[in-house]
Amino acid sequence: MSGEKLLEVRDLRVDFKVKGGTFTAVQDVSFHIDEGETFGLVGESGSGKTTIGRAIVRINEASSGEILYRGERIDGRITKELDREIVQKIQMIFQDPMASLNERAKVDYIVSEGLYNTRRFSSPGEREALVEKALLEVGLLPEFATRFPHEFSGGQRQRIGIARSLILEPELLICDEPISALDVSIRAQVLNLMSALQKSKGLTYLFIAHDLSVVRFITDRIAVINKGRIVELAATEELFRSPFHPYTKALLSAVPVPDPIAERKKRIIVYDPACHDYATDKPTWREIAQGHFVLANDREEEGYRKNAAPIPAKE
Ligand SMILES: Nc1ncnc2c1ncn2[C@@H]1O[C@H](COP(=O)(O)OP(=O)(O)O)[C@@H](O)[C@H]1O
Ligand SMILES: [Mg+2]
Repeated sequence: MSGEKLLEVRDLRVDFKVKGGTFTAVQDVSFHIDEGETFGLVGESGSGKTTIGRAIVRINEASSGEILYRGERIDGRITKELDREIVQKIQMIFQDPMASLNERAKVDYIVSEGLYNTRRFSSPGEREALVEKALLEVGLLPEFATRFPHEFSGGQRQRIGIARSLILEPELLICDEPISALDVSIRAQVLNLMSALQKSKGLTYLFIAHDLSVVRFITDRIAVINKGRIVELAATEELFRSPFHPYTKALLSAVPVPDPIAERKKRIIVYDPACHDYATDKPTWREIAQGHFVLANDREEEGYRKNAAPIPAKE
């Protein structure tokens, strides 16, 4: 990991126009992703994860706040050149491989669509060679290029989705629940493929999931989001070892344990937003331990600090 900030999101807010006014899907969202890092964004359905991903790739407009890529603003009005660069460098992989591929197009077209848009080839032969290379990289046969999406399984379709992103040689991949819609039996294969690709290509990942167990073994750091606000952010092992926020604790309590006896004794914690006393003592974003942030008010911070395990020094 080079440690350079690749992406930075500052105080992001996304409002949607809905019947009778506006709905704030995301607010006060701040985090950064280092180059080469796998950053997890975890929270239940409807918490705003996809909205954040789509704001980064400029599909959703940021109502306020800033999004920076290599230190440069990429939200709001930007130049055509920068827009083209962002389209190539930041790619998004979607949750549902059945819905995200154009059913009437052959794999060859689907995988090269981004190439057409960015004119990243000089001859039909070069384009075909790039498609072939991308298919091989995701573990598919080059002859699949002439087939249609419905001929493939969910796992293969997700591989096609990954190939169509990879062909543009992106730096940052936003993986929006890429394995949630897949059969349990093939999830690990797709996850392993993504890990291998990250290593071989030096990719940076924003990995979105609704379940902490999925991201535990692949992420460096995790942000936990609840109702449009990030409530906790820490290095993955730190978060699992000493979670502070009651919402994080609730999510962790639902993570399956490999030991069947421990699994049976497991107590699932239910998060009750009323446990916070925010009427007069308002919560803000605070660093409780090194690199470990939590949304808390004064009284909560005091309690968290008492329980904070000492942080081992980084080498
Ligand atoms: N285009 C939109 N218009 C109105 N509301 C939206 C729109 N997109 C998302 N939302 C709402 O924003 C909230 C967050 O959605 P989303 O980011 O998709 O959550 P997640 O990906 O965490 O499941 C949800 O309540 C959703 O209904
Ligand atoms: Mg989503």
